[in-house]
Amino acid sequence: EPLWGEDDRPRLGAFGPVKVRVPAKINLHLGVGPVRADGYHELATVYHAISIHDELSARAADSLVLTMDGEGAGELALDDTNLVIRAAKALAEATARPAHARLHLRKQIPLAGGLAGGSADAAAALVACDALWGTGLGREELAHIAASLGSDVPFLVLGGTALGSGRGETVTPILASGHQWHWVVAVADGGLSTPAVYQRLDEMREAGEAPDPIGAPDEILVALRQRDPAVLAKALQNDMAPAALSLRPALRDVLAAGDAAGALAGLVSGSGPTCVFLARDASHAGTVAAALNASGTCRDARVAHGPVAGARPV
Ligand code: C5P
Repeated sequence: EPLWGEDDRPRLGAFGPVKVRVPAKINLHLGVGPVRADGYHELATVYHAISIHDELSARAADSLVLTMDGEGAGELALDDTNLVIRAAKALAEATARPAHARLHLRKQIPLAGGLAGGSADAAAALVACDALWGTGLGREELAHIAASLGSDVPFLVLGGTALGSGRGETVTPILASGHQWHWVVAVADGGLSTPAVYQRLDEMREAGEAPDPIGAPDEILVALRQRDPAVLAKALQNDMAPAALSLRPALRDVLAAGDAAGALAGLVSGSGPTCVFLARDASHAGTVAAALNASGTCRDARVAHGPVAGARPV
């Protein structure tokens, strides 16, 4: 089941507080097609939710207020441009109620990191306000509002491992094998702008400097069923990697450090600059993370596992 069923749907009434945990995402396969008439790129992707979480709490209030702490506190605007505020307002508008809530965001997902942190916070806000306000919206309607907020938002409501198509907003769950995959997430100093990386990819393709597009994720789907990290390692691919490396050449050092540390594979996460590394198991991930932290090539290397659930009340 992608989302909660009608019966286990949280209905917490008017008085909160509601606390929602939402994961970061990586793309096990990120196939980028040509740019469309609307400016978005057609994607063939495999999303995977990992155990780096943001947490959003929502309380009843008589206005809409957002505060935050953790990753990016002081850098991220808390006004109407913030995806949390935009999500609360979109849900309020869709259900014809005032957007009243006191929201607090506790961030661990880095900003502009290729881990969909902003989209995760939008997904958390939708789920938290939906529970706080008892909107009674169905999953279809929530998914529709989610898609209007950003291409990755529907996946972050869903969680797990899923196929993404369209501009990424159309998601289909991939039956979980029950296997947990172990990752090391190398967080960079400073972010990369997603539109800038897409634009660089378009330029590189036009100039004939980009590799052939990777296309459909068939190989990943087969590898996921085999539950063998050595097999999955060979199937990880990202069309955006050359563009991210072109804008941030130092990422080659991060990938080389992970390789030297014995990671099974290294991959630019989404549009970067975060790099993720596949490990054999939890203990191997710890070893690789320690070596990456000692290498000085990244701000912070953290262990994570996946798949994990999407935005959920805790
Ligand atoms: O959908 P979202 O707001 O997260 O996308 C941010 C930007 O990333 C878009 O404005 C667009 O420039 C780029 N993008 C794209 N193709 C996609 C998804 C995003 O070009 N499939």
